[in-house]
Amino acid sequence: MIAVVGATGNTGRAVVKELKALGQNPVAVVRNADKAREVLGADIKVAIAELMDKAALEKALAGCDSVFVVTGHNPGMVEQQNNVLDAALKAGVKHLVRVSGGRTVAVADSASVVGRGHAAIEVRLKQSGIKWTILRPGLFMQNLLGQAASIKADSKIVMPYPKDFPIAWTDVRDTGAVGARILIDPAPHAGKTYEFTGKRTTNGEFAGVFSQVLGRPIAYVPVTVEQTEAAMKSRNMPDWLVTHLVTIAKLGNAGGFSTENTKLVEELVKRPPLTTKQFVETYKAAFA
Ligand SMILES: NC(=O)c1ccc[n+]([C@@H]2O[C@H](COP(=O)([O-])OP(=O)(O)OC[C@H]3O[C@@H](n4cnc5c(N)ncnc54)[C@H](OP(=O)(O)O)[C@@H]3O)[C@@H](O)[C@H]2O)c1
Repeated sequence: MIAVVGATGNTGRAVVKELKALGQNPVAVVRNADKAREVLGADIKVAIAELMDKAALEKALAGCDSVFVVTGHNPGMVEQQNNVLDAALKAGVKHLVRVSGGRTVAVADSASVVGRGHAAIEVRLKQSGIKWTILRPGLFMQNLLGQAASIKADSKIVMPYPKDFPIAWTDVRDTGAVGARILIDPAPHAGKTYEFTGKRTTNGEFAGVFSQVLGRPIAYVPVTVEQTEAAMKSRNMPDWLVTHLVTIAKLGNAGGFSTENTKLVEELVKRPPLTTKQFVETYKAAFA
């Protein structure tokens, strides 16, 4: 059996949907059964486990051979994911697939608690004896859903990158497609760390795709990293999150998310990665 921890999130739901499309009946390990049924379908097999509840996690993973783990950003992520790993080891899970940050993000000396967290989780994972695969997707296209309100109301996209700056955005559904296939046949992927992205584009071009699909002009408004930081602070965002997002913006401006890597999706999923156009078309109602 296959389990997906974090199944109600952006990536987790894409993994579950792809597994179901491939004929699997995975168990969604979630904290909220109603949300799971809402986003994954009424027929989804659910196991309830808060990530700090080790006993519930162990129960949820009992009888599972492979587990997908993705949790949100938070300063408790190391403890949460170590709890999942411990539960997987106790339950006899053979293979764990996890979503990490990019190679410039998931480093022990990162300024971000999230970057340091990913690095610490991976040190322990690699020493644990369980078989593992680490996924390093590029920046998520789905991050744009966080700007849906201003795209809708003001027809603008605001980001701390120049208009012509290249980024290889990644649709989380490609992570779902990759992750599902690894979970179904994990052996060839044991001990591998995979970087993958969609096609490289510029943010100006991305805004152009929005304009084309939505049928009205969407402006791309570049701001500086300092302006972004000040805006986040004025909204009283927690310090750790401001630091994380500033770290990401600085790494991005240094080219950390500009390298295109479409090989894994093409070889494993046997189709090109999803495009920015496919992304906007799918989520059109949120932006229109
Ligand atoms: N955003 C990017 O551009 C990007 C790029 C590369 C890598 N990443 C990495 O991708 C990961 C985030 O992926 P995502 O966007 O798919 O995450 P997400 O949408 O935030 O989903 C997080 C999942 O974890 C669950 N969860 C959180 N806290 C929990 C708790 N205490 N107990 C039980 N479940 C809990 C959430 O449940 P609920 O639905 O109930 O809240 C949800 O199912 C991060 O590790 C990030 O570093 C992000």
